[in-house]
Amino acid sequence: EEQQDLVGLHFVITAGPTVEDIDPVRFLTNRSSGKMGYALAAQAISRGAKVTLVSGPTHLHPVPGAKMVHIRSTEEMLRGVQEAMADADVLIAAAAPADYRPVQVYGHKWKKSDGLPELVLEETPDILATVSRSRREGQTIVGFAAETRDALSFGRRKLESKGLDMIIVNDVSQPGAGFDVDTNQVVVISRTGDVDTLPMMAKSSVADRILTRVKTLRNSVDGE
Ligand code: PMT
Repeated sequence: EEQQDLVGLHFVITAGPTVEDIDPVRFLTNRSSGKMGYALAAQAISRGAKVTLVSGPTHLHPVPGAKMVHIRSTEEMLRGVQEAMADADVLIAAAAPADYRPVQVYGHKWKKSDGLPELVLEETPDILATVSRSRREGQTIVGFAAETRDALSFGRRKLESKGLDMIIVNDVSQPGAGFDVDTNQVVVISRTGDVDTLPMMAKSSVADRILTRVKTLRNSVDGE
């Protein structure tokens, strides 16, 4: 898989968590190291693709050769993705964007002497659903589903509700899979109904298998 089989394709990849501020020192966030998304970006680059990596805050080094777009909030991730999609062929959303944000962000550090802060939350925008609604012909949209129970059925539901071409179902309750670790175990479901259960392996190998699946799906659609 070291061949340059992705030359001519522009991949937009999201990675890491997003952060929703409560006040200048406190925030809401999700678990994600960014490793899965950065592995996808690195493997796509090594196979000749152009890559825009829209990343929340992580401790990882930028991926050489990728256009790095650093963001903090889910709203900013949406804008970064929308901008990059103007000229992209594939979106792979490996990020764990925060689903909720405080309606009100306090301008100063909330003090204990102020009493308990009242945290009223609202939903953040759904990046995948928004982008898939306005997609151009020929754009392939791939999501992840991080689940802790009934992973396959929740994953299938997300494939439908978000209008995706493929979903990578990630049962994050399994040891050696999901957040932080260098390995992962996923099930790839495409809208054509193909289900591919991959073994536990390095995130770089998982990334390669996902990229090959995306290429195969695009070729089968081309040939329709
Ligand atoms: O970063 P690592 O430590 O390597 O961990 C990898 C991972 C577990 C984060 C990754 O493999 C993974 O599963 N990413 C998806 C995390 C997630 O937010 O899943 P979800 O089931 O809540 O969301 C479903 C899909 O919608 C995801 O593709 C997500 O990026 C996207 N989403 C979520 C919220 C939102 N507001 N907009 C979105 O587009």
